[in-house]
Amino acid sequence: MLLPSSWTCVIIGCLLAHVAGTSSLSDLYPPLWHESPGQLSDYREENGRYIIDPWIYPERMGLYKILLNQTAKYFAKFAPENEQNILWGLPLQHGWQYLTGRLAKPTQKTKYGHESGDHLFISVDSWWADLNYFLCVLPFLAAIDAGLIEISSDQVTLLLPPKDQMKFCYDVSSCRSSFSEAMDKWNAFYQYLQSPSSHFDGLLKYLWTAHTSTLEHTIGKFEDRYEYYTKPEADFARNWIVAMEYFAASLFPTTLTRVHKFQKGLPPRLLVTGDVAPFISDFTDFQNTVLFYLNYLFEVDESTDSLSLDIWKILMGSESIRKLLLTTIDAYIELVT
Ligand SMILES: *[C@@H]1O[C@H](CO)[C@@H](O)[C@H](O)[C@H]1NC(C)=O
Repeated sequence: MLLPSSWTCVIIGCLLAHVAGTSSLSDLYPPLWHESPGQLSDYREENGRYIIDPWIYPERMGLYKILLNQTAKYFAKFAPENEQNILWGLPLQHGWQYLTGRLAKPTQKTKYGHESGDHLFISVDSWWADLNYFLCVLPFLAAIDAGLIEISSDQVTLLLPPKDQMKFCYDVSSCRSSFSEAMDKWNAFYQYLQSPSSHFDGLLKYLWTAHTSTLEHTIGKFEDRYEYYTKPEADFARNWIVAMEYFAASLFPTTLTRVHKFQKGLPPRLLVTGDVAPFISDFTDFQNTVLFYLNYLFEVDESTDSLSLDIWKILMGSESIRKLLLTTIDAYIELVT
């Protein structure tokens, strides 16, 4: 117990020192973070209810901002400035989706969604946006349900998208009834978070369990969306979902600095026909490598009928192998960025 956590401190110290040398932590926040609502009273209020439109980027991001704010105190024991809050992974990924055009209507032929004018609108046709909806709304509403955000559970309503409304839930009770298992998993994460004996790896375990459960219960609803994309982008989306299972098993620590660094390896734009990693000329070596290995992982997983995942889970059950993997990933990222 002592040794791994002191090593964690050394690693965090290095990362923080590295960051401090060039910038401040707030430079790592996702796009439009400062412009997004930071408390419920920043949203529209009607008859005592807050009305939130999660199909507008800053309004959706605001839910994360409130969630990060309300959970900050439980992560203060790990590092200052909320840096070690493992919920950072979600808003950072959403920011990446925004910056790379993945929240825009996939059928419109602009390279970047935000060149289209209505750049803050999130399209219900976007596969990335639909799955992110549940990775935002369920953790947020479950935090209300768990009493972490102090407001009564019928006081927040989310607006539905213009189509496929039956696929979405919009408040605590509708999400609880349609996605009860995932809501329970998020609730369990918050219960553990509030327990004085919570430790970092335990938190990661609860977080990744909730994340995996959320995807498991929502992914099947949006398979029709793949058709809107080029083959390389649809393949990347499928690869990404498989990779998430491996990330989950390795309890990847989704803290601010680490996710920010890792994201430099993600595709900076939608993939177009003809993009083949590791030979995409406008991508960095890091981005090409990540894309190549995500595809490789997918193929291994598929050809072994996920036996590879079972083996991976056994390997990751060993604390020392898991720590070695994380240290190796850190070292690699330091090398290429
Ligand atoms: C949370 O938000 C409130 C109100 O915006 C702010 O005063 C406070 O400093 C924030 N807390 C943290 C830990 O960020």
